[in-house]
Amino acid sequence: MEKVILAFSSGLDTSVCVKLLQEKYDMEVITVCVDVGQPEEEVKRSERVAHEIGVSKHYTIDAKEEFAKDYIFKAVKSNAVYEGYPLSTALARPLIAMKIVEIAEKENAISISHGCTGKGNDQFRFECTIRSASDYNIIGPVRDLNLTRTEEIEYAKKHGIPIPIFSNFSIDENLWGRSIEGDMLEDPNVEMPEDAFNWTKSSADAPDEPRVLEIEFENGVPVALDGKKFSPLDIIKECNKIAGLHGIGRIDIMEDRIIGLKSRENYETPGAVLIITAHKSLEQLVLTREELKFSVNVSETYSELVYNGLWHEPLRDDLDHLIDNMQKRVTGTVRVRLHKGNLRILGRKSPFSLYQEQAVSFEDKETDQKEIVGMIKNYGVQAACFQSVCRKG
Ligand code: ARG
Repeated sequence: MEKVILAFSSGLDTSVCVKLLQEKYDMEVITVCVDVGQPEEEVKRSERVAHEIGVSKHYTIDAKEEFAKDYIFKAVKSNAVYEGYPLSTALARPLIAMKIVEIAEKENAISISHGCTGKGNDQFRFECTIRSASDYNIIGPVRDLNLTRTEEIEYAKKHGIPIPIFSNFSIDENLWGRSIEGDMLEDPNVEMPEDAFNWTKSSADAPDEPRVLEIEFENGVPVALDGKKFSPLDIIKECNKIAGLHGIGRIDIMEDRIIGLKSRENYETPGAVLIITAHKSLEQLVLTREELKFSVNVSETYSELVYNGLWHEPLRDDLDHLIDNMQKRVTGTVRVRLHKGNLRILGRKSPFSLYQEQAVSFEDKETDQKEIVGMIKNYGVQAACFQSVCRKG
């Protein structure tokens, strides 16, 4: 029998896929759960459910450190946000796909499979990565068979496949964020119910006492909180905890999917909002006006590449080189205040600051103010010419 490696989460789609691959495709199924910071219970459940459904082997791969260091930190340096969504699911997919390819090589498999439907973004992200790294045949059974959610549930019931009962929403969670979509949220005018939030307090329930926090950055990435050093993984977890407690990082947007469909998305990304906001404010202190202007475009292109599943497009790597070079000076600390859903920058400092306090000060006598007269005269010359031509009309 041909071996197939299935990216597995124990959710409805991937659970149904195990049986479909065995029954309809006549394959030996090996499942892989890549841990990128989804709830621990889900990782454990994956192993249990995989064996329950009857796979020949199951792998659990802890990729959390790698995800934090090599993916999330790149997203921090590039301020990676797509249409208001701090990229989280999109960021994890290429890493998950690479791990699946590794297992496929180890197991001498013929095919790789995923549970994506034909409507979403993840099929692009998985498949573009798999094709960049290998020649494996790719199978998407849910998409192949054009299954609806109801049909999947029926199939699961008929075959005794355990269906997760936590929620009717489609939820994806990793270290950098939690996304909630589907069910009642498919109506863009329906409010996200309070009990569907899991990482963030509402501003009403957040502590009355504000929290002041100092975040230290080195080369564009966070390294310490209030003077205490953390590993990449731990600082992300800690920021999620602190910002989530104070109600930071709830996002409700309409998002344009790769295939052009609009979709209504809810996110909880407390750590990402906290870190990226602080990071941007430090950039304002240390980067030049030209660099800042340019980096807005870099960030947008970078985010679009990642969102669109083009992690392995060489431009992404080209941009990383540019970004890394700029980020060498994004070193310093940012002080923020978190209070009932509000995040306020209180201060920032850096050894690479370009701010000239003495020169900008109202008390400065050293700079000769009259020197600026010539600059202004020439500065507006084109606008003045244009207006005078119009006046003479
Ligand atoms: N819209 C986001 C993205 O494309 C999140 C999708 C996550 N999937 C989910 N089933 N909640 O990256």
